[in-house]
Amino acid sequence: MKALVFEHGPNDWNYLPREEVSAHLDGIRDGTSHGYLAVMEGRLIGLVTYVVGDAFSRYEQAALDGQPHGWIVEGVVHREYVSQGIGSRLADQCLKALREAGIPRVYAERHEENAASAATMQKAGFSEVDTFYDPARRQSGSRRTTVCRLEFARGNEPSRESRPNDGRQ
Ligand SMILES: CC(C)(COP(=O)(O)OP(=O)(O)OC[C@H]1O[C@@H](n2cnc3c(N)ncnc32)[C@H](O)[C@@H]1OP(=O)(O)O)[C@@H](O)C(=O)NCCC(=O)NCCS
Repeated sequence: MKALVFEHGPNDWNYLPREEVSAHLDGIRDGTSHGYLAVMEGRLIGLVTYVVGDAFSRYEQAALDGQPHGWIVEGVVHREYVSQGIGSRLADQCLKALREAGIPRVYAERHEENAASAATMQKAGFSEVDTFYDPARRQSGSRRTTVCRLEFARGNEPSRESRPNDGRQ
């Protein structure tokens, strides 16, 4: 997983502090981090990971239900396989698992100008909740971070499921 993330994750917009990301991936072993993998002919070609916690509690005041939320932490697809729907499928699997665990909201963040990430989040049903200057983590372009949130609809069904299905998986 680390080889994939550190070889195919870096770009002008993706913030990947090696120790922090490694600790997050190591957390999969002890169950503090979770995720889904895409494997093709025995080769890891994509992953999307998440945690459950309170990392985005600053955006939770309106809800005040005291429940933890999900956070999609890393999303990386091997460069040879991008734009084939793999990132979206993995994100959807993470969201399904979070929904089934009764988690009401899920957050994700990206460089404001990370177009692939923005499109993947939007397709998964996320909406932008904040954009702020973040020079410590963003070295390029606007140097701003955008925070996105997906709130599952009542009955814990994702609101995005009401959108038309485009036929892809
Ligand atoms: C972000 C990433 C995981 C997306 O994975 P992917 O498998 O390419 O995504 P998908 O094929 O499922 O595409 C999802 C949507 O994003 C769009 N998209 C993909 N790459 C894009 C790009 N470079 N620019 C604009 N839109 C893009 C697709 O067209 C699709 O939208 P559509 O179905 O409406 O056409 C992948 O690009 C990646 O690994 N990037 C490098 C690491 C990174 O920046 N991760 C995000 C950190 S926040």
